[in-house]
Amino acid sequence: MAKKNKLRLAVLASGGGTNLQSIIDHCSQGSLDAEICMVISNNPGAGALERATRAGLKTLCINHRKFSSREDFDQKVIMTLKDAEIELVVLAGFMRIISTLFLQAFPQKIINIHPSLLPAFPGLHVQQKALYYGAKVSGCTVHLVDDGVDTGPIIVQAVVPIHPDDAEEDLAGRILAQEHKIYPQAIQWIAEGRVEIVGRQVKIIDSSLPTTALSSPSCPDIK
Ligand code: GRF
Repeated sequence: MAKKNKLRLAVLASGGGTNLQSIIDHCSQGSLDAEICMVISNNPGAGALERATRAGLKTLCINHRKFSSREDFDQKVIMTLKDAEIELVVLAGFMRIISTLFLQAFPQKIINIHPSLLPAFPGLHVQQKALYYGAKVSGCTVHLVDDGVDTGPIIVQAVVPIHPDDAEEDLAGRILAQEHKIYPQAIQWIAEGRVEIVGRQVKIIDSSLPTTALSSPSCPDIK
């Protein structure tokens, strides 16, 4: 039987890139049937670009400051992604709001990871907000991107405890460790064509793994 082509990914990241690293590692270990065709950052100093270069991936810095509008910036990103025949756009700490133009160019093909249990604590500084609120659990969410901020249909979530003496970095680290597991898992489900979206509901076809409180698959901690 002919081998299925790998899912063509672009990872968009603005920061350190530990999620990118976990996706790179899963691809190279063979636990993710995907190919990272390019890594794009809007931030020339992004650690994610260094990680991508180290892994021998194609990198591109598209600095949003050099564009006069969000649409112009997004148009450049869209053209780049289309030229490379990207099938799934993976936002991994990409600190830009995605315009309608971008969403229409890749309908239901843009995913994001967020460090809280959505719909609780959308937006920024969410680990601090969860601690301040006195929440007893938090976690992370992989979701499709829609025209709201962290509002798209949820693919998978993982839960972590919040301990009374937690500092923000403790909680952030505990959440990140789960992000590194569920993001590759969600991408693999998409690569296998097992993600069915009906309105807000995302169904994983024939999944033996739960879509909450995921404790596998095994993967090393990414520093
Ligand atoms: C992660 O916490 C992710 O949930 C959020 O941005 C952070 C990116 O971290 N969207 P990294 O750059 O992948 O280390």
